[in-house]
Amino acid sequence: MKIGIIGSGALGSNIARAIAKKGLSALIANKSGPASLSNLVKEIGPSITAATIQEAASADLVIIAVPWEALEELTSQLPTWNNRIVIDATNPVLFLAPNSPERQDATNPLAAYGIKAIDLGGRHSSSLFRDLTPGARVVKTFNHLDANVLSEPQISGGQRTLFFAGDDVSAKAEVRKLLEVIGYFPVDLGALDVGGPLMELPFGALAMNNFIKI
Ligand SMILES: NC(=O)c1ccc[n+]([C@@H]2O[C@H](COP(=O)([O-])OP(=O)(O)OC[C@H]3O[C@@H](n4cnc5c(N)ncnc54)[C@H](OP(=O)(O)O)[C@@H]3O)[C@@H](O)[C@H]2O)c1
Repeated sequence: MKIGIIGSGALGSNIARAIAKKGLSALIANKSGPASLSNLVKEIGPSITAATIQEAASADLVIIAVPWEALEELTSQLPTWNNRIVIDATNPVLFLAPNSPERQDATNPLAAYGIKAIDLGGRHSSSLFRDLTPGARVVKTFNHLDANVLSEPQISGGQRTLFFAGDDVSAKAEVRKLLEVIGYFPVDLGALDVGGPLMELPFGALAMNNFIKI
C-alpha cells in the first residue's frame, strides 16, 4: 500500500520517522515543494521520498498533517479521492507566534500553551474534514498527542496508544494494521462523530492522554 504524507512539519516529519523505523516507504510533501525537503528525507532515510502535493495525494493512503487553517485551500486542489483512505491528523487550533500579543490574551485559556481554539460553529473538526474530502474513507488518528513523541511508538517496555475513529470498517481495519506494523497500540474509538470529538485538541476528553500499553 502506497502512503502519502502531506505536511512535513512537527507532525508530518515525526509520522515519517516512525514509518521509516519499520522500513516502510512513504512520499512526503509540503507547501514549499520537494526541494525544500532534501535535508529532512536525508535525515530520515531512503524509505521516505520527497514529493509534490499531487504525488503524495495520489497514494492509496494519504495522511493530512497541515494546519487547520490550510485545509480548505489544500483540499480544493487535490484529485478526487475515489474511496481511498485519508487520515485526518489535524486539530482545530491556531499556533500563536512566540512573543505575540495574543500570548498574553487573558480571554484565551490556552494562550500559555501557545495555541488558540478555532471556532467551528458547534461542529467537531472531523465532520468538517469529512465534508472537505468527499469520496474519501476518512479515519482520524495521529492527532491526540504532542507530535514529538510519535517517532517513538515503542517506549518504556510497551507500546504507545494511538486512538483512531472512522465510519468505514474496512478503512479502519487497514489503519489499525498500519498502526500495529509501525509499533503503536491502536484503540478504536468508534465512528467519526463519536471518537473524533473525544481525541480532538484542545478540548477532547482523551486529548494529550499519553497511555503506554505494557
Ligand atoms: N505539533 C503537534 O504537536 C501536533 C500534534 C498533533 C496534531 N497536530 C496537528 O497537525 C497539523 C500540523 O501541525 P504541525 O505542528 O506539524 O505544523 P507545522 O510544524 O507548522 O507544519 C505544517 C506543515 O504543513 C505544510 N502546509 C501548510 N500549508 C499547506 C498547504 N496549503 N498545502 C500543503 N502543505 C501545507 C507546511 O509546509 P511548509 O513546510 O512548506 O511550510 C508544513 O510542512 C495541525 O493541524 C496540528 O493541529 C500537531
